[in-house]
Amino acid sequence: MAENYRKTITRIAAATYFWTDTMEITLIFVLLGLAYVVGEAKPIINVMDYGAVGDGRHDDTQGFLRAWGVACSDFRVPTVVIPPRRTFLLSQIEFEGPCKSSIHVQVSGNIVAPNKLWTSEFTTWISFRNINDLTIDGSGLIDGQGSIWWNCKNKKRCVNVPYAFGISGCNNFHMNGLTIINSPGKHLTVFMSSWVQIKGLKIIAPADSPNTDGIYIQESEHVEVSDTVIRSGDDCIAIGTGSLDVNITRISCGLGHGISIGSLGWQNSNAKVEGVHISYSNFSQTTNGMRIKTWQGGSGFAKGISFEHIKLASVRNPIIIDQFYCPTKNCRNSTSAVKLSDVRFADVRGTSSSEVAINLACSESVPCSNVVLESISIVLDKVAHRNQITSYCLSVHGSKIGKVIPDVPCLK
Ligand SMILES: *[C@@H]1O[C@H](CO)[C@@H](O)[C@H](O)[C@H]1NC(C)=O
Ligand SMILES: *[C@@H]1O[C@H](CO)[C@@H](O)[C@H](O)[C@H]1NC(C)=O
Ligand SMILES: *[C@@H]1O[C@H](CO)[C@@H](O)[C@H](O)[C@H]1NC(C)=O
Repeated sequence: MAENYRKTITRIAAATYFWTDTMEITLIFVLLGLAYVVGEAKPIINVMDYGAVGDGRHDDTQGFLRAWGVACSDFRVPTVVIPPRRTFLLSQIEFEGPCKSSIHVQVSGNIVAPNKLWTSEFTTWISFRNINDLTIDGSGLIDGQGSIWWNCKNKKRCVNVPYAFGISGCNNFHMNGLTIINSPGKHLTVFMSSWVQIKGLKIIAPADSPNTDGIYIQESEHVEVSDTVIRSGDDCIAIGTGSLDVNITRISCGLGHGISIGSLGWQNSNAKVEGVHISYSNFSQTTNGMRIKTWQGGSGFAKGISFEHIKLASVRNPIIIDQFYCPTKNCRNSTSAVKLSDVRFADVRGTSSSEVAINLACSESVPCSNVVLESISIVLDKVAHRNQITSYCLSVHGSKIGKVIPDVPCLK
């Protein structure tokens, strides 16, 4: 294409004898530049052209890696295309940067994991590492084939199962529209990344699949998750240490364990979480709604956390701060804890399936400060109709604004 433009330009140049040399040369450069932009921008790199087959049986890992290698070394903003109506079988695969320009990965087809136990390490099936300006979108389906792992885990024969899809060291990352199902472990992990925008995903796994969190965010800043449906066997979204400026909005969560900050402070570790805002989200039949969980013995802080405009349907623990988090049941109490402050729950409405709808259990040595409840109305659902709805407080300081039902007497 560029060749044709060059010929045309030469002809034009030959015909324009009345121009000065300088004008001619300038014109040629301008037109060449234009030809370059029009004719060669945004190359399409289809994985089918690099050896991928897409029949769901042939291992397409090498084809994908070849396509990625070409895309990553192209400075013209390439699009990697994973075409529709095909199923690509991938083994563990790592797409590595840094790359020469921003990259768009368009996932229209389906991607499946091997239907076997393929590792005994904690790892990620599909990962993107150290890439700036990466966009992944499309209507494709990513299937982690998790059931064989869940069985193994339930029988205590597998301990470390892989995550399905992860990014780490990515700045300016956008993900939109994909469906991720049946991960062996967590579905989507965001580590050590910044300016991350995730929207319009569907993440789905059975409610009894172990530790299949929807989205897990850790050591990342400026993260936005929106318009996403999550049903899984663990937290819909979990926010770990090092998370700063995280906005989560319009999430439909359930079944599953709700949205959690934490767990923080595991094995006496130092936690740092600041500026996490969850809004306009719904929880349906989840075991928890809005949860902050920390282990005894940790240190550091989690502050500036808000949950606003939340709807609940039969949620077991709608609002819960648990600074005695200990799923193994053999933890000792400690005088050190992650300090929780500036935590706000506002405009929360709906039903609880347990009596203690608001449970604020803070560290006795490091009390929670400035916990604010504003306009809360939680009633018992039909299943739990016999008893009184109530709240629990330990070591909490803060305030109430407007009507708070059930009442939380420890707050002024
Ligand atoms: C999160 O929301 C706050 C308040 O609206 C805003 O100031 C901040 O820029 C947002 N951050 C991201 C990463 O979207
Ligand atoms: C939450 O539920 C309300 C209806 O109760 C609905 O209007 C809204 O769209 C739902 N939001 C999400 C994010 O699912
Ligand atoms: C730790 O302290 C809490 C709150 O006082 C108490 O309910 C719990 O039983 C204690 N756990 C242990 C293991 O002592």
